[in-house]
This record gives sequence, structure tokens and C-alpha cells, in this order.
Amino acid sequence: MISDLTITRTREELDASRGDGPVVLVPTMGALHDGHVQLLKHGRPLGDTLVASIFVNPTQFAPGEDFEEYPRTFDADLERCAEAGVDIVFAPTVDTMYPTGLDTTVMVDPGPLGSVLEGAVRPTHFRGVLTVVAKLFGLVRPDVAVFGEKDYQQLVLIRQMAQALCLGVDVQGCPTVREADGLALSSRNAYLSSDQRQQAPALYRALRAGAAAAADGPDAVLAAARRVVDDASIDLDYLALTDSDLGEPVPGQDARLLVAARIGKPRLIDNIGFTLGSG
Ligand code: PAJ
Repeated sequence: MISDLTITRTREELDASRGDGPVVLVPTMGALHDGHVQLLKHGRPLGDTLVASIFVNPTQFAPGEDFEEYPRTFDADLERCAEAGVDIVFAPTVDTMYPTGLDTTVMVDPGPLGSVLEGAVRPTHFRGVLTVVAKLFGLVRPDVAVFGEKDYQQLVLIRQMAQALCLGVDVQGCPTVREADGLALSSRNAYLSSDQRQQAPALYRALRAGAAAAADGPDAVLAAARRVVDDASIDLDYLALTDSDLGEPVPGQDARLLVAARIGKPRLIDNIGFTLGSG
């Protein structure tokens, strides 16, 4: 199975194997789970060549975050890619991605949306994400790129970047894949102790409670979600209700409820979409 996969590490190797037809890119940092596999399956029929990139991007981790410990499972990742029908794995080195060095490179400024929600807690995160995604778009030159709704703010910012910088890439989102108890799959769930693992599904229960109160308007949504979080004694970073572009929520339109909390070592994030009523 893996013998059908081409593993590439440079632009030259990519160019030699990407073919002439439409290219679909699924960017990842590896440690692939069923959430990533869903993106690959979504992307597979959208072009002739399916590329999965695997690169743990140093510029999106702040000092003291988990860059060093981030799980690296390359051989298992290749198996999952092969099973999902990937043609090319692009696994560049830091030098290929940052030829002028990590501190001196040109970076993408995410604009105002980069410093709210996740960006308020991780102020340099989204400039690192957008910079590496712009570089991946430049190296792979995909027609379509697929991202998960799990990282909703990231998806919205990448969509905005593709449009604002005229990158000509169709950015598509995929629904969040969850464990049976509702916890969103994440490589960082591995950091949870068994007690914390029991506590963590309360985040999605809170989102569902909020969504169930949608017809009653914004205040009811936030109050219903907050009750579940408080009952589970979870310390929130934020609970926010927005429209689908992360602006002010508008009754009668699509809304997003987003939550982030530190449960033990990892920060977990999740979100849900629904149509908001006016209460
Ligand atoms: P990573 O965390 O590896 O995630 C890669 C892609 O998988 C992202 O688009 C993310 O939203 C999606 N994903 C993760 N968990 C998911 C789940 N449970 N359900 C559905 N999709 C899920 O996000 C990154 O890497 C990086 O920031 C990256 C975009 C690769 C830039 O470095």
C-alpha cells in the first residue's frame, strides 16, 4: 500500500511527481488521527493528485508551548495516508520551509481577527499558521486545500488570507470528527490524564446545550452553555458566540459558539454551528 505513496521533501521532488491535473492539499502537522483522515477522504475526489503535507511548524508555537514534545509518528502517518488514497506526502525540513531562518522571514499579518479568541491567548500563533500555509500554497500550488472546522478560527483566517492575498486556492472546511462521547479528536488529547479525559467531553456537551437554546437568542445560548461548563468545574479561557465569520452574531443567521479551556496540561478548543433565533 505504502509503495503507491511518493514521499517528497523539496519543491523539486514535488514538481517531479505532482502531475498536470488539479491538485488538492491537506496540510497537517502529522500525528494523524481520524479527523485528518476525514479531510483526506473529503479531498480525494476533488482533484487528480492528493497531497498531504506533514510539517510541525515552529513559528506557530510560542516559547514554552509544546513544539518539542508535539507527537511525531511519521511511519504510522504514512500508513494512514496510503489508506486514505494520498498520492504524495510532502514532508519538508525546516530549512526548506524557512530558507532565510525562523527569525528573519517575511510573515503574514492575520489582521484584527488574529488577536481575538485563540489569538488573545496565543498572540503569535496565527501569524505562524498563515505564514506556513502561504508557504505550503506556494510550494504545492494546490487548486483546493482542505481544513477542519475543529480549528474554526484557523479555517476562517485561512479563507480570508486566500481571498485577501489573491492566492487562487479554493479553501474548503470539513466537520469535526469526535470520540463517541463527543470529545473532538486532537493530537493533544494524548496529554490528558484519565480524570481529565472524563471531564473533557463537557466542552461539547456545553456547545450542544448552547445550540439547543438557539431559538431563544444569544443570551440564552451563552447561559445554557455556561451552566454545563460550571457544573463540570471547567476553567474557561473563553466562551464566545459569533456569526459564521467570527463577527457579531446576528439573529436569524448562521452562528458559531466557540469554547476554549485548559484541562490539565492541554488547552482544548471546540465549536458548533447553528442558526440563531431572536429570543
Ligand atoms: P493539525 O493540528 O495537524 O491539523 C491539520 C488539519 O486537521 C487542520 O485543518 C485541523 O483543523 C484538522 N483537524 C484536526 N482535528 C480534527 C478533527 N477532530 N476533526 C476534523 N478536522 C480536524 O492545524 C494544523 O495542523 C496546523 O495549524 C496547520 C494548518 C497544518 C499549519 O501548520
